[in-house]
Amino acid sequence: MAEPLLQIVYASSASYLMTEDELDELLDEVRANNERLNVTGMLLYKDGCFIQVIEGPQSTIENLYNSIANDDRHEDAVELLHEFIPSREFGAWTMGYHRLNEDELNGFNNFFSQNHTISENAKLGGEALKLMLSYR
Ligand SMILES: Cc1cc2nc3c(=O)[nH]c(=O)nc-3n(C[C@H](O)[C@H](O)[C@H](O)COP(=O)(O)O)c2cc1C
Repeated sequence: MAEPLLQIVYASSASYLMTEDELDELLDEVRANNERLNVTGMLLYKDGCFIQVIEGPQSTIENLYNSIANDDRHEDAVELLHEFIPSREFGAWTMGYHRLNEDELNGFNNFFSQNHTISENAKLGGEALKLMLSYR
């Protein structure tokens, strides 16, 4: 039987303010890796914060999330959602990308300056996922 599909949404804080060129470089690397790994998803960036959804075979996603969370280009990765899904929601995207503007995802602005409960994280993860689905 095929491995179950796992979807993870996390938020993190960039270690430094990335230029457009640095973000493009990161995306090129990520898309090439994901093509090879059969991983799909979307990345949002706003004011030094990342939100990303990754989806694919369970073991691939678990390993990938480990290496992403240890990448020193960002820090404080917080897992917001961790869910098995019946089919991919970002199947056409090796990694979609959207730079958020001011009024998108307002609840996210002070995310890293507050402590959140697990249910607050899940709520924010759900909102982030909805937003990412609207950009597909
Ligand atoms: C914000 C951010 C998102 C990333 N997303 C992915 C991703 O979706 N897929 C991927 O393969 N690497 C991603 N990476 C890069 C990984 O952290 C890591 O560099 C890459 O998986 C290669 O790891 P390895 O050298 O252990 O093989 C991301 C890095 C950052 C900073």
